[in-house]
Amino acid sequence: MNVVIIGSGYVGLVTGCCLAEVGNIVTCVDHDTKKVAALAAGRLPFYEPQLGQILGAQLAKGLLKFETSMASAVANADVVFLAVGTPSNADGSADLSNLLACARALGDAIPSHCVIVVKSTAPVGTGDRIEEILNASVRQADANDGIRVACNPEFLAEGRAVHDFRCPDRIVIGANDAYSSAVLEQLYTPFDTDGQRTMLMDRRSAEFAKYACNCMLAARISMINELSSLAGTLGADIASTCRVLRADPRIGASYLQPGVGYGGSCLPKDLSALIDLAQRAGEPAHMLRSIERVNVGQRQRLLKAICDYFGGGLRGRRLAIWGLSFKPDTDDVRASPSVALIRDLVQEGANVNAYDPVARPAAQAALGNVSVGFGQSAMAVCEQADALIVMTEWDEFKSPDLDRLATTMRGHMVFDARSIYKTKVLQQHGLHHYRLDQIMSVSGEPVVNRPRMSADRGYRGMLPQAESPAV
Ligand SMILES: NC(=O)c1ccc[n+]([C@@H]2O[C@H](COP(=O)([O-])OP(=O)(O)OC[C@H]3O[C@@H](n4cnc5c(N)ncnc54)[C@H](O)[C@@H]3O)[C@@H](O)[C@H]2O)c1
Repeated sequence: MNVVIIGSGYVGLVTGCCLAEVGNIVTCVDHDTKKVAALAAGRLPFYEPQLGQILGAQLAKGLLKFETSMASAVANADVVFLAVGTPSNADGSADLSNLLACARALGDAIPSHCVIVVKSTAPVGTGDRIEEILNASVRQADANDGIRVACNPEFLAEGRAVHDFRCPDRIVIGANDAYSSAVLEQLYTPFDTDGQRTMLMDRRSAEFAKYACNCMLAARISMINELSSLAGTLGADIASTCRVLRADPRIGASYLQPGVGYGGSCLPKDLSALIDLAQRAGEPAHMLRSIERVNVGQRQRLLKAICDYFGGGLRGRRLAIWGLSFKPDTDDVRASPSVALIRDLVQEGANVNAYDPVARPAAQAALGNVSVGFGQSAMAVCEQADALIVMTEWDEFKSPDLDRLATTMRGHMVFDARSIYKTKVLQQHGLHHYRLDQIMSVSGEPVVNRPRMSADRGYRGMLPQAESPAV
């Protein structure tokens, strides 16, 4: 098929590359001229495993090309995907300006048989709005045929996007007409290897299902984080609790790792967009609002614990950060807890040095003129550091040379915001270990440097004291 994809970001580019790989003729359009030039030359504008090889191979075969002009690209299209960003407005609602601008620009340019597919995550009813825009602008003769707008939400995860697109666990096709459904079913046939993954539904249901999935994932993360805090305060071990939870098939094993909370370009904005939709519909959305509150609270608790550990202030403290991206295997720093924490630490007067295997350029751009140093290696940023804060669970951070770490650092504290270390192991190397469940209290009182109240019998031991200032 002749496929056009508008928007060459994480979703649009992966979609374009993978559709070209199975034999479609794909044109990717983006209004970012620099990005288009890089892609046309075979250079990826962001980090995504495996994508570079597919890009090179499909460019060489002539099945994939890149353009900035939408009108010329769509002239012969059978399917046009809209995969542009839908970030949050200041009030939390989804900013649809890119998406609607594309619909307006498509106008007369699309051929009459073409199916317009919204791949961007967009609120329920967006397909209706796009249909209206197109119906108002296409040639009357074509309009008689009817404009076809479908919704095909994307479920890939950055860092494993190629795998997720090639082997999807579900292919959701939301269409209000049989032709659109049939075209999309045919396009996705190579990816539905057992014929069980395609889910046909009406457009609004598909739009809603995407939000429901992301909110469910966010809910699990906030739930395990809240349980983790509570476990720590009550003297229970969250790791043991997680083993019990994972063994229950009704609960399932994924998304049960306590940590500093979710970030990235999807969960935060999709949750707030659904809260906005609920509010407009007069629904209270109690659960959705709590998910968000718990998530924001995680980062605040971490910051508070770090400040408490150093006796209230961070002025002159040298802090090392491992990980800048919102999760491993991507350079995406949108809504990254690490970037947000760095801003807060610098504001508190800390001297921050950060390392990430791939996300440094993106983080540097996001942090702008925030005064932060970046190192070439994980160990380099720990030189004379008063504490290490591990913010992203990249593989290379999971088993570091702990003896070297202990001698490289000036202090001995490791704030493990992703629960990747074992306390005993760090202690064997002279390092102290704080996980989020160990440093929070239900009352919000500082618990570092103080005995902690157990649920039933007074106190359960002292946590290590902060090293005295060495500045
Ligand atoms: N990133 C993910 O993991 C992921 C997963 C599933 C769904 N989604 C959804 O997919 C959509 C795209 O996300 P993304 O992460 O790929 O975004 P992105 O910001 O990486 O890419 C969007 C691209 O669209 C281009 N663009 C914006 N407006 C344009 C216009 N008018 N004309 C041409 N190009 C334009 C931008 O230049 C950019 O290259 C969003 O709605 C997102 O919620 C993202």
